[in-house]
Amino acid sequence: MSRLSLDLNNLKTFISEKDLEAIYPKVLSYHEMLENGQGLGSDFLGWKKPGLSKAVLAEINEVAKSVRELCQVFIVIGIGGSYIGSQAGITFLKPSFLNQLYKEGLPEIYFCGHNISSDYHSDLLDLVEKYDVCLNVISKSGTTTEPAIAFRLFKKLIEKKYGVDGAKDRIVVTTNSNKGTLNTLAKEQGYQKFIIPDDVGGRFSVLSPVGLLPMAVAGIDIGKLLAGACKGEELYSQPSLVENNAYHYAAYRYLLYQKGLITEILASFQPSLHHFAEWWKQLVGESEGKNQKGIFPASVEFTTDLHSLGQWIQEGKRNIFETFLLIENSNRELKIPASQNDSDGLNYLAGKTLDHVNKKAYEATALAHKEGGVPNLSITIKDRSPESLGQLFYFFEKAVVMTSYLNDVNPFDQPGVELYKKNMFKLLNKPGN
Ligand code: PA5
Repeated sequence: MSRLSLDLNNLKTFISEKDLEAIYPKVLSYHEMLENGQGLGSDFLGWKKPGLSKAVLAEINEVAKSVRELCQVFIVIGIGGSYIGSQAGITFLKPSFLNQLYKEGLPEIYFCGHNISSDYHSDLLDLVEKYDVCLNVISKSGTTTEPAIAFRLFKKLIEKKYGVDGAKDRIVVTTNSNKGTLNTLAKEQGYQKFIIPDDVGGRFSVLSPVGLLPMAVAGIDIGKLLAGACKGEELYSQPSLVENNAYHYAAYRYLLYQKGLITEILASFQPSLHHFAEWWKQLVGESEGKNQKGIFPASVEFTTDLHSLGQWIQEGKRNIFETFLLIENSNRELKIPASQNDSDGLNYLAGKTLDHVNKKAYEATALAHKEGGVPNLSITIKDRSPESLGQLFYFFEKAVVMTSYLNDVNPFDQPGVELYKKNMFKLLNKPGN
């Protein structure tokens, strides 16, 4: 059973059935290339087959359990694809104020090494100093500067608290199988290590130990998450546009882009999707934005942003389209109470749930934006379960790869991120630069 549905009705006046039919042979030929491993970047198709060996799954769960027992604070160090997927998963699946819930036996979880901010890292060092700490440093290359700096800072803190020997039980490394400084360090110091498969790129690694260990530490059932992704694999391997929602979405995105709508806004009505939108932006931005092509991915959180960016979306430049990401069932129902004197005039909503009002806000927004000339579609997932999330991760991975191929770009490289690094190393006088 699919946990995800698409509503494409608000695109119909912008994209005709004829346009869609015309694109189908192209989709089919890229589908075949992808399935046969013949498309651009085909050395990086490891994400296509989600799942782990029983042994690795058990090892991740075991390490997660011992981390939970050992520490009050768990620090995840990584940048780009090495942290954003697990943050997306934790924010989506766990209650809103997770770090206040230590009483339930979960450590507080913090992310760092995804910036070089002195204030951010100093504040975090101060915050965690009095607690028992474990960390997971994640870098596929093992050489990325931002996480390397953060790792040095937090390794020092841990070694000061527990000694070099004690630190071994508290530091987990996730990196490639055999190269890079992180690998050397893990070997020398005897840290627990998980491997990122060679054929899985950073932004496609959420369903590998990269994303799975931090999520398991947060108490998420990663077996169910992987089961959801496997369902996604089954559903989104169909060649037919009608049966394959990922290709259907990809084809529409491509056609909208061809019509000059160069920005896609991912709009949600739930804060639990906040980091998911960040994950999606990285996936789209780094996969599609190259060769002077690609949809620019933006995100908004409604109804919050209806009181700020909503104005721009309604009446600004008409080069955008909108993808609503909705959750069918909330975890918790909350009703608006009645009031005897109705002094705030809200009694017309008494007894209604917040979900009911939020749904009407969505319907009103989709209609207003369509009338304002913004084509929009909606993707609805059933609930905030690991199975739904697994399917959703897979859905977007498959769709973004298809849109990249339709645009004739390699979704799996990121040559454009090298230039800032080269300049920065030169300015910092890094030896050999
Ligand atoms: O998608 C990618 O490949 C990148 O965003 C990487 O995840 C990011 O640059 C971090 O790289 P690494 O894991 O090697 O430190």
